[in-house]
Amino acid sequence: MLPDLFADDRTKLALDPGAWLLGGFALGEASALLAEIARTAQAAPFRHLETRSGGTMSVAMTNCGAAGWVSDRRGYRYTEDDPLSGRRWPAMPPCFRDLARRAAETAGFRNFEPDACLINRYAPGSRLSLHQDRDEARHDAPIVSVSLGVPARFLWGGRERSDRPRRHDLFHGDVVVWGGPARLTFHGIDTLRAAHHAETGDLRFNLTFRRARLPDLA
Ligand code: SIN
Ligand code: FE2
Repeated sequence: MLPDLFADDRTKLALDPGAWLLGGFALGEASALLAEIARTAQAAPFRHLETRSGGTMSVAMTNCGAAGWVSDRRGYRYTEDDPLSGRRWPAMPPCFRDLARRAAETAGFRNFEPDACLINRYAPGSRLSLHQDRDEARHDAPIVSVSLGVPARFLWGGRERSDRPRRHDLFHGDVVVWGGPARLTFHGIDTLRAAHHAETGDLRFNLTFRRARLPDLA
């Protein structure tokens, strides 16, 4: 067998079958993405959602797209309207959809049609504990996750919550795609450490693109 010279190549690093870290994939468009996040947040402000158990998430969230992910005392689900305003979530900017489709394709998932984009904002001390993304109607579409701003430590686990997670640093412009056999892998973000980024100050933003609802049959 040939030696795997590119085993540590971050431009396309296999995390598991069906899961790829695409290092710097979104770097060239990162500023445009941040501008669209700011615009989205004017219509649908970042908020700290309540969990079913009555806690408050340390990560602030908002959404764009036809469906948005929310959490409250009733549990987790997707909604068409922003519960804060009663209006539809802001539309998904075309550059978001385009990036998500290109990243999915690069990871081997053709014709990804995201209808939801969850936007996470992490301040120092924020964390997202290990979880599966399983509130979507079907699990045949991948998840595309875009990192912006200060670096974070991504926890990449297994199919069971108890599987010991591996840790990968995610930097501004990195994209992670997981689907197929990796679609329900447990993942999370370690407590964000204080750091500075020229474009976001001490914040990290993350976009996760999902197919939340059944594709229209028409
Ligand atoms: C998520 O799992 O929804 C977000 C992951 C991240 O912030 O990188
Ligand atoms: Fe997730």
